[in-house]
Amino acid sequence: MSFIEQLALHRSIRHFTDEDVPTPVIERLLAAAMRGSPSSGNFNAYSVVLTRDSERKRRLWELHRRQGAVAEAPLLLTFCADFHRFRRWLRLSGAPDNFDNFLGFLVAEIDAIILAQTFALAAEAEGLGICYLGTTLEATREIAEALSLPKTVFPAIALALGHPAEAPAARDRLPLSGILHEERYVEQDDAGIAAIYAEKERRGFERYAGEASRASLLQATGSANLAQFYMSELKYSPERIRLGARSLLDHLYETDFMNNGDEETNP
Ligand SMILES: Cc1cc2nc3c(=O)[nH]c(=O)nc-3n(C[C@H](O)[C@H](O)[C@H](O)COP(=O)(O)O)c2cc1C
Repeated sequence: MSFIEQLALHRSIRHFTDEDVPTPVIERLLAAAMRGSPSSGNFNAYSVVLTRDSERKRRLWELHRRQGAVAEAPLLLTFCADFHRFRRWLRLSGAPDNFDNFLGFLVAEIDAIILAQTFALAAEAEGLGICYLGTTLEATREIAEALSLPKTVFPAIALALGHPAEAPAARDRLPLSGILHEERYVEQDDAGIAAIYAEKERRGFERYAGEASRASLLQATGSANLAQFYMSELKYSPERIRLGARSLLDHLYETDFMNNGDEETNP
């Protein structure tokens, strides 16, 4: 199978068999992912924490909003933005630490996320299933505590990993015409925006409305369309997302990642 054919088979997997994924398999995939991932300055500013232990996994399940995929997966991988190791090396080498700021955070965060996605592709190529856990961003402080992360090791994203116990249908994507711009960005008018989202609206809303339980959820939230449902209290409500954003920013200020030369204005 070509690599491009493999990409077409991607599905997020949320149900897993009980079969374990042994650590040597993870090591092989991770080594391949490191090899296949570019890294800013080649700092390799990431670390990965594996969680198998049932008690710790239960704690992470709670922190990831009790998602079923976390409970079912034999293994969780938390990809972390890590300048802790690099900074210690700088200190040992008598070099200044110029990345103790928001730019440094983004550099490490991007490194970690590129590694996570390359790892995900490698895992899928070997027949494993993955589900990203964006809930990582809503509980970074608590996840950092659960995994004993030092101050400048920041949870970037987590993956639930295991052997798939489901074969879900492919989910929609926006049409290429809606995302590709030649030379300069072309803004759409309202009709253009509606056209770009028409298929998502149809398929996404059908997906929720098609299942009886979800249909009643839609009714309960008074949602008339997919966009309203997405922003309802059952999905990405303002309370949930603002709380998550606040806690993320507060945690960032507690780390050594935010020495941006404006300390007096930092909260
Ligand atoms: C950064 C990121 C965070 C995500 N977080 C979650 C999550 O917390 N729970 C979940 O079930 N799926 C999560 N997903 C998976 C998306 O829901 C999924 O990729 C999307 O619906 C498209 O489906 P597909 O991956 O099967 O094509 C996340 C994906 C990404 C890239």
